[in-house]
Amino acid sequence: MTAVGAAVAPNPLAEGLHDYRVAEPALMVIFGATGDLSGRKLLPALYNLAKQRLLPAGFAVVGAAIDDLSDDAFRKRASEKISTFSRTQPVDPQVLQSFLDAVFYVKVDFNKLDDFKTLARKLDELDHARHVGGNRVFYCATPPPTYETITEQLKAAGLNAGEGYHRIVIEKPFGTDFKSARELNHIVQRVFHEDSVYRIDHYLGKETVQNIMAFRFANTIFEPVWNCHFIDSVQITAAEEIGVENRGAYYDKAGAMRDIVQNHALQLLALTAMEPPIAFEANAVRDEKVKVLRAIRPIADDEAAKATVRGQYASGWVLGEHVHGYREEPNVAAGTLTETFVALRLFIDNWRWAGVRFYIRAGKRMPKRVTEIRILFNRPPHLTFGRQAAQELDPNAITLRIQPEEGISLKFGAKVPAAGIRLRSVAMDFLYASSFLVEVPEAYERLLLDCMIGDPTLFTRADEVEAAWTLVDPIEAAWRDGRPPLQMYQAGGWGPAAAAKLLEADGREWHRP
Ligand code: BG6
Repeated sequence: MTAVGAAVAPNPLAEGLHDYRVAEPALMVIFGATGDLSGRKLLPALYNLAKQRLLPAGFAVVGAAIDDLSDDAFRKRASEKISTFSRTQPVDPQVLQSFLDAVFYVKVDFNKLDDFKTLARKLDELDHARHVGGNRVFYCATPPPTYETITEQLKAAGLNAGEGYHRIVIEKPFGTDFKSARELNHIVQRVFHEDSVYRIDHYLGKETVQNIMAFRFANTIFEPVWNCHFIDSVQITAAEEIGVENRGAYYDKAGAMRDIVQNHALQLLALTAMEPPIAFEANAVRDEKVKVLRAIRPIADDEAAKATVRGQYASGWVLGEHVHGYREEPNVAAGTLTETFVALRLFIDNWRWAGVRFYIRAGKRMPKRVTEIRILFNRPPHLTFGRQAAQELDPNAITLRIQPEEGISLKFGAKVPAAGIRLRSVAMDFLYASSFLVEVPEAYERLLLDCMIGDPTLFTRADEVEAAWTLVDPIEAAWRDGRPPLQMYQAGGWGPAAAAKLLEADGREWHRP
């Protein structure tokens, strides 16, 4: 089958944008198929791949969950979810129907081996009818405590081996600390070869996140200044206006550190700070990311009080609406100390980044949803135009805007048009939407396709996940000792006062996106 981007063909700016890689025939099993992730993200992403004709020949998806559903009942559910959550609207009824014709359902209780054997028979039957050749993707869209059971049951039912490939996709959070992540790695690696384990961090599937590498390594003008000689500091912001929604039970055990920082934020940092990989190839890229994570100076004990901030939202106003505090959210423990905001100051102890401050902040119930990486450059060594002329001049900055309004902005000084000399900062902007005139695909589309193609570049490797936990664990330990204490912040604000003070202490301030 030829993979064509038919939907984008008339747009001249989109030339070359279609995905040229072709996946072999495959069957995908979604464990937790009736859950939130499957309905909001996975099924709509598969539908959109179908729409772009990127799904492999013979492809079928088998939903697997505890609910007692027929194929038709699951298809009806899938159809509703796709119609609601698909990024392309309205949904194309013909594409949807042909996609749903390849959707099936098997009731699986994860504790019952017989159910996995029933699943295996169903897969054999579909494989035979659709000439798939044994290729299987098993997607764990389930709560983390089930990963171990599912993996072991797959082995017991013989679903991890045989003709074709057998890949497992595991959602974040991968473990809850270093020890549990390592244990989980061992369990999974006893059943699947590391090359077949796809640990998903959906941020890596975002176009703008991949573009960090393109920006840095496909150009000659940025990399020479991408180091401690020119860069003063880096700020990574992952702000959301939403609260914990209906995920209180999960979130209360995770907190912003495990939910965002351990994975998404540290991935952004690794891509920003890594050395150029020798190729855009899975192990080459991941080797460089691991090196950066390992070079981050650990924060422990009293240092945590100075270099970290943890906050929790109290009631307030977000986008003109009054919202209640985190402790009033459903399914969170009374008097919970779980953080919904984190700010950190990190140093990367290597040649390139010595002395450069990397600030991370991530939080819920912030004034707006914005994810960005801001690179702040040093001031010029000498004020040629004098202090007076440069009063309105900020240092150079590059902002990699991950979402929304995806793009890149460069801030530099210019002369204000008038007599005499006065300088002011101006911006030069690149916006995806206007340069390519296409809607940016959902991260899950890219990642599901990559998994079927067998390209793990945008998935995290075992050592990478473990290295990230190595940084998080000592901070969590200091927090358990009350260093620093949890601070409340008003919903709709930029976090607790301590977050601003963290930068003030360094003579810097957070960028207001
Ligand atoms: C998920 C977190 O991984 O990422 C959520 O569990 C968070 O809490 C979400 O809301 C943010 O993703 P995005 O793509 O909306 O930035």
